[in-house]
Amino acid sequence: MITFENVTKILGQKTVLDGIDVEIKDGETFVIVGASGAGKSVMLKNIVRLLTPDDGRVMIDGDCISEASANELETIREKFGVLFQSGALLAWMSIGENVALPLREKTDMDETEIVDRAREKLALVGLEDSFHKLPSEISGGMVKRAALARAIVRNPRIVLYDEPTSGLDPVTARTIDSLIEQMRRELAVTSVVVTHDLHSALAIGTRIAMLHSGRIIELSTPDAFIRSAEPIVKGFLESQYITKRGSWEGATK
Ligand SMILES: Nc1ncnc2c1ncn2[C@@H]1O[C@H](COP(=O)(O)OP(=O)(O)OP(=O)(O)O)[C@@H](O)[C@H]1O
Ligand SMILES: [Mg+2]
Repeated sequence: MITFENVTKILGQKTVLDGIDVEIKDGETFVIVGASGAGKSVMLKNIVRLLTPDDGRVMIDGDCISEASANELETIREKFGVLFQSGALLAWMSIGENVALPLREKTDMDETEIVDRAREKLALVGLEDSFHKLPSEISGGMVKRAALARAIVRNPRIVLYDEPTSGLDPVTARTIDSLIEQMRRELAVTSVVVTHDLHSALAIGTRIAMLHSGRIIELSTPDAFIRSAEPIVKGFLESQYITKRGSWEGATK
C-alpha cells in the first residue's frame, strides 16, 4: 500500500501539493488526472523519493520512504518499476540491452536468463523484432514502449507510469492499457498511472483522482467519476467529449 499522509510540496513559490492524504491499495490501478502543471509528476516523484515532501510523508507498505536511510531506500525502491514522462533510453545501447540493464545491474541472473527475460518483455510491448536496434533507429512511440518493457523487466510489484500512452497512436495506446490491465488481473501489480488520456483512465482505473490546486478534488471509480457534480471535473470531461453516459459524443460545434 502507498499512503500519502498530509503531503505538502512547495517548488519555487508554488504549493504544488497542499496536504495530500490518500491511500493507494495493493492491486489497484490508481489513475491521476489533472491539468498540465497540476502536480501529477510531482506526486509520482514523491512516491519514489525523487522529491521529498516539505511536510507530511509517503509510506510504502508501512515503511516511510520520505525519511528512509540510503540502505532502506534501496530496499524499498526494489519494489518499483517506473516509466518516466521522458521515457529516455541510453542512446548508445541497443533496445535489448536497455531493457536488460536493470537485470545486469541489480540481479545475479545469468546471461541466458537476462536475454530471455528482456525478449519476453519486449514481446509483451510488441517489439520482439527490435532487440538489436538502437533507440535512434526506432520511432518515438517504440522508444516509449521499450522504456515500458524496461520498467517492468524485474517484475516489480508496483509500477508508476507517467503518461504511458502520450505520443502513441490510439491502437498502440489501447495495447498499453491492456498490458497494465493484464498485470493487475494476472499478477496483482499495483499501478499508479498519470495520464491526460481520459479514455485510458476510464478503461483501466480502479479509481481516478483529479488533482487541482494542490488537492485531490475528486476520487472515485470511473463510473462515479463521469457522473461527478464537481464543476472542474465536469469541465475536464467535457473537454474530452465524455458525457455522463460515458460515451464519446463528438464535437457539437
Ligand atoms: N524541480 C522543480 N523545480 C521547480 N518547480 C517544479 C519542479 N518540478 C515541477 N515544478 C513545478 O511544479 C508544478 C507541477 O509540475 P508537474 O511536473 O507535477 O506537473 P504535471 O501535472 O505533471 O504537468 P504535465 O501534465 O504538464 O506533465 C509546475 O508548476 C512545475 O513548474
Ligand atoms: Mg507531468
